[in-house]
Parts: sequence; C-alpha cells; structure tokens
Amino acid sequence: MPQLTIDSLGTYEIPAGRRLINAIIDDARADQHYSCGGQARCTTCRVQFITGEPSKITQAEKDLLVQSKITEPGIRLSCQIECDRDMTIKVISPKPPAKNPNHPADEIVPPAVWTTK
Ligand code: FES
Repeated sequence: MPQLTIDSLGTYEIPAGRRLINAIIDDARADQHYSCGGQARCTTCRVQFITGEPSKITQAEKDLLVQSKITEPGIRLSCQIECDRDMTIKVISPKPPAKNPNHPADEIVPPAVWTTK
C-alpha cells in the first residue's frame, strides 16, 4: 500500500488507487477543502506536492489548472489524483468553518482521461 505523508500531520497507509482527496479527508482526517465535491470544478482541493507527484494528469485537471492560471510547480488537485505511489504533500487549502456539502465519490469525476503534464 502506498504511504501518504502530510506535512506536519503524519504518515498513513492508503489503499492503492484511492482518490487522494478521500485519503486526505477520510484516512488522515486532515482539514481539506473540496467545495465542488471532487468534480474538477473549483480548485479548492489543491495541495502542494513535496515528493511523489504523479506525472500523469487527468485532462479535466490539466484544463482547470490552465483556466485558473495555477502554474506553481507541484500544485495539483487532490480530487483528480489516485494514490498509486508514496507521496508527501502539504495541505494548502483548508476547509472553511462551514461543513463541506458533498463528499467526493470513490472514483474520479469526471471519468478520468489520463494525459501527461
Ligand atoms: S474538489 Fe473541486 S476541483 Fe477538486
């Protein structure tokens, strides 16, 4: 099982293929925002990769990062990433006081069309 390390929080064993957003909020119980419910529509689920950033990317994530002018190296949308390797990240978009309305589904939404960065 891949290990997910969240800066200043801890290291967690994550089932391979689990969506990173769900590993962050359910397995690590970290304070992470996801206002669109994990559908590649908002960018609030973004994280900073320290190590283990995947080179593959969904077309939906690629399009939204470009559209949102998010160009910093290592900034990715956690709802569009599968835990398929050891990763170390920093949570940079904690949730606001109001509860997030829609828990992200188990599978990537919209259905993943994989490409490269
Ligand atoms: S939760 Fe909205 S883009 Fe990931």
